Amino acid sequence: MNSPATHSTVPSERLLARLEKATSLCVLTGAGISVESGLATFRDPGGLWEEYSPADLANEAAFRRDPQLVQGWYQARLKQALTAEPNEGHLALVELEKFYEPFLLVTQNVDTLHKRAGSINMVELHGNIVDERCTDCSKPPVDQVFSEDGLRCCGFCGGLLRPGVVWFGESLPMDPIERATDAAISSDVFLSVGTSSIVYPAAGLPLLAKQNGAYVVEINVEPSALSYAMDEVVLGPAGDILPVLAAHMRSFNNREELERITNR
Ligand code: APR
Repeated sequence: MNSPATHSTVPSERLLARLEKATSLCVLTGAGISVESGLATFRDPGGLWEEYSPADLANEAAFRRDPQLVQGWYQARLKQALTAEPNEGHLALVELEKFYEPFLLVTQNVDTLHKRAGSINMVELHGNIVDERCTDCSKPPVDQVFSEDGLRCCGFCGGLLRPGVVWFGESLPMDPIERATDAAISSDVFLSVGTSSIVYPAAGLPLLAKQNGAYVVEINVEPSALSYAMDEVVLGPAGDILPVLAAHMRSFNNREELERITNR
């Protein structure tokens, strides 16, 4: 029986030591990391799924039933996402990426904040809200036209445009999930940040990492559905906790560098 995860509001010495020793790091993020950029999560009080139902908005049938409602809702979310700025949590992951090879950031978020923060080695498991595509010719819209009733349509074939996100009931694109699976399996440390850990296959990644020997850590303002399976749970906002890990690795690497120079 695994020892229960340690719960604390600060990263443990054990985590910092594992980060120092690690070669490969894999990080999974969810909507919680974008809260400090002003974006709502899905399942928290006041979250998107409290106000709206995924059955009416985030699946193919809903889109066919009421494309106006669905296009309108995603356009509003797109505007919010593009107005939001990356926060300290996103920026800390950009810095942490420099200290590991291999490193992979696996995000469930469609808000493009990680990309805008400067993350390089990353996959968007659920697509993103910026890249639209035509539901008929599947082409990304070169230009778009509006139908008489104001629907956004493909300038090439006139088909309805839909957001480039993965809807409920749809399978994830293969390449991102394959890269995420490989990275979880080969990770020395796996961080699960700002996710309720209930949507699969993303929620399966920390378990896979643990089965393959990684030190698995959850960073969240409250325990998630998978806290029991973690080696460590650090309770606090991602924008507070992740910069602590980045600062630690920065000073550790500076020390290493200094030793290398002085020992020449
Ligand atoms: N820092 C860290 N975690 C936070 C913060 C914060 N500042 N604020 C909230 N959280 C945590 C919440 O405690 C919760 O566990 O973020 C989590 C958000 O959970 P969800 O709303 O369920 O979002 P997520 O896990 O990303 O959802 C997964 O579900 O609806 C689908 O496709 C959608 O990608 C999404 C998937």
